[in-house]
Amino acid sequence: MTPAACLLAGFLSLCLSPGSRGASVSSYGERKILSPQHFGGVLNFSTFLLDRSSGMLYLGAQDAILAVDTGNLSQKPLKIVWDVPEDKRKSCVSKGKTEGDCRNYIRLLEFLGDGRIYVCGTYAFDPQCAFITISNFSLEKGIDNTIHMETGKGKCPFEPRQHYTAVMAGGILYTAVSSNFLGTLFDISRVTGAVQERIRTEQSISWLSEPDFVSSAFIQEDEANNPLGDDDKIYFFFNEVAKENDFYTKVKVPRVARVCKSDVGGMKTLQRRWTTFLKTQLVCEDRASEQRFNVLTDVFTVQHVPGDPRSTHFYGIFTSQWEREELSAVCVYSLADISDAMNGPFKELKKTCENWINPEPVPTPRPGQCLNNALKADGFESSLKLPDKVLTFMRDHPLMENSVVSAPLLVRRGITYTKLAVTLASISSDNSKKAAVLLLGTDRGELHRVSVVGQNVTLLQETPLFKAQEPINSIILFKDAALVGSPSSLTHQVVEGCSHYPSCEVCARARSLGCIWNAKENACDGVGTEPADWNPHADPLTLCNGGKDNVGRCSPEEKSLQVLEGLRVLLPCVQISPHPCYWEHPQDRYTRQHHSDLEVLVSPSSLGKYVCFCEEGPPSTGKPCQRAMFFLTVAGPATADSRALVSNRQFVIWYLLPFLLGVFLSAFICILYRRCGNGLHSNTTSSVSEKERDLLPSSDTPQSPSSASFLSEAVPLTKRNGTINGLNGGSGIHAAHIYCNTTEQKLQESVTNLALQLDGRTERVGQDIHAGHREFEEGLSDVMDGLDEELAKLKVIRGAPLAQCEESSI
Ligand SMILES: *[C@@H]1O[C@H](CO)[C@@H](O)[C@H](O)[C@H]1NC(C)=O
Ligand SMILES: *[C@@H]1O[C@H](CO)[C@@H](O)[C@H](O)[C@H]1NC(C)=O
Ligand SMILES: *[C@@H]1O[C@H](CO)[C@@H](O)[C@H](O)[C@H]1NC(C)=O
Ligand SMILES: *[C@@H]1O[C@H](CO)[C@@H](O)[C@H](O)[C@H]1NC(C)=O
Repeated sequence: MTPAACLLAGFLSLCLSPGSRGASVSSYGERKILSPQHFGGVLNFSTFLLDRSSGMLYLGAQDAILAVDTGNLSQKPLKIVWDVPEDKRKSCVSKGKTEGDCRNYIRLLEFLGDGRIYVCGTYAFDPQCAFITISNFSLEKGIDNTIHMETGKGKCPFEPRQHYTAVMAGGILYTAVSSNFLGTLFDISRVTGAVQERIRTEQSISWLSEPDFVSSAFIQEDEANNPLGDDDKIYFFFNEVAKENDFYTKVKVPRVARVCKSDVGGMKTLQRRWTTFLKTQLVCEDRASEQRFNVLTDVFTVQHVPGDPRSTHFYGIFTSQWEREELSAVCVYSLADISDAMNGPFKELKKTCENWINPEPVPTPRPGQCLNNALKADGFESSLKLPDKVLTFMRDHPLMENSVVSAPLLVRRGITYTKLAVTLASISSDNSKKAAVLLLGTDRGELHRVSVVGQNVTLLQETPLFKAQEPINSIILFKDAALVGSPSSLTHQVVEGCSHYPSCEVCARARSLGCIWNAKENACDGVGTEPADWNPHADPLTLCNGGKDNVGRCSPEEKSLQVLEGLRVLLPCVQISPHPCYWEHPQDRYTRQHHSDLEVLVSPSSLGKYVCFCEEGPPSTGKPCQRAMFFLTVAGPATADSRALVSNRQFVIWYLLPFLLGVFLSAFICILYRRCGNGLHSNTTSSVSEKERDLLPSSDTPQSPSSASFLSEAVPLTKRNGTINGLNGGSGIHAAHIYCNTTEQKLQESVTNLALQLDGRTERVGQDIHAGHREFEEGLSDVMDGLDEELAKLKVIRGAPLAQCEESSI
């Protein structure tokens, strides 16, 4: 990298990085990204509500609600301001809360079904709700022309960041939320509708123990096919603290709880409390590695057979409380398995193990059961008629004995997933075979796509959408697209069909979804347009590379890299299978995994051999595959490539200074034009699209690392290949990246490509790795069995009992 290039890097890092994208609306083909400027300074989007008939998306933000027309994202959003009066803000601050938190953060938006939206906000730690008239998008006013408000206690949290969930069921609102100022009381309740039917959970540690609410779902029975007259149900997903054997750490357990829609509480016992609150533990565990993922972070509900509530599946993102590294897993649970657990034995929650042997006899009618025809025929038309002994048993036994167990579909290290959505695609002409595509949002503004066909899980694509500080906090599926949101941005991504897969490699990976690369048109086609010369037995990836064979997939050549002390090197390794990759490296605390890549701060103790292992195929096949091998040495002056080896001081002068100059220059220009001008627009959008990670090394662009421990997140990292070189996503081959910085300076910015410094040596490295990957892809063309059947096989064991006396203290 020449000093001039550093200058350019400095300039570009400020103006062209996705974090400071100049234009407020950019469109690249089918992709549109609305950045903060488009929203006129409105920030902290946390609630997203889509009107599927009109395509209007309502965004709940700080002190405002916006309406965005998803049919025309260029249109200026409509805005309602709903803020907190000055004196109220002051009194909130005087109670010890921060200025920033003493605002009105909109946390709830729900359609009331009468042309109005119910909206609730934290209102400076005094939650309030109001009504929006949709036709003229304004807040309903009272007689005195002030906003018509009602208390939001129990409907909306006090604290802007507190996790919480709400769901509308038949026009009635159900919430799981903390219901006091201190955030110490928790309720799952019915909060609107007839006052005598507003019931909630018992304040008991055995019902809810320091819960952290995640998600909720309303599952309605199929009216045409409900012979037993079963009741509709509402499911709540949360983590809670189970005080197990360990007295020092609070062990979290993920749970699902169920209440029935026609429950109105008991007459004497459980008055105005749920008589149907049952909960069970979710287990997401990889038996092979004995890794348990015990913290649930998001749930997506989907019917595998549209219109059939019994085919409902819940996909959950999990992480682990004990891992210090970032780690994410996806597990899926069927409604049928959850119902089985709820119909199974009750767990004894006594403080001792005495009851274990002789559990209390279960009275009839069965406690916690939803109303159905049989119960009604026996004279129990309402929960008010249930006998006391049934209700007392219910009160003391909210937890089921059996948990619902699933093995992860996908495990990833170095990644934190924040949000998921699942689309189902039919992959056979008669609709009998289904594939799922998981859309996973990360805490660094990326969207990952993963296909699940039978037991085969394939990572398809990783796409950076927003700047690294913007976690994805919403993914809404609408028509053939996903509306993906972060606290300050929104984008529209096409997700259905094959045509949005940009390269031959990604298209080949999506072969199991029925996608075929059409080399003539340079486009990814659906099976419907199968080319005449298509050979179904050919390895699809071979087609992408002129028919060359695969070599040495799991025996990579050792690449030796000469590096400078104080530099940061990103060693690439690409995860293809659902099992995570890990590195063996010299003992050094200055390493950190980003995705599967390893970031190394070069010091005398970090020199040596680095090997990346990835588990591929089923765990039973034993040996992990070595995917990459590097040997780091410090370049001595004698052997030095003059361009790679500059002393730190020279480095500062020749590289850092021009770089900083670039930054200042661009800052100056930015000020001049108030924001980076529209003239740069087309460049910026292409730089975003070019950053697309296609997971194959040929197109692999290592992520900008933004490790808090090493690098300040203040200025987004710029990747040389994404901006200066302007390589397209399909051909940039990069084996390692070095950041243009020194430890003394604690400055980080531009990423230079080691390939340039090592005379293109790494060009070859990348190709070798690429060749290795192709072999793994064979078999993608198999058409697979039904999804449900295969998911069932994936499960380790169903309904395995918890260890004896586990959670005996609650
Ligand atoms: C709102 O956004 C600002 C700026 O991004 C951030 O500093 C703040 O923490 C956010 N507040 C909440 C409650 O999310
Ligand atoms: C979208 O909105 C913009 C700005 O209001 C307008 O100029 C454009 O014609 C609209 N496009 C469509 C397709 O309606
Ligand atoms: C919006 O419409 C409602 C119902 O038609 C009406 O009561 C209200 O005054 C209107 N608000 C504004 C600001 O026009
Ligand atoms: C999964 O892929 C392998 C080859 O990679 C193939 O042999 C197998 O049939 C596939 N399994 C299913 C269930 O589709």
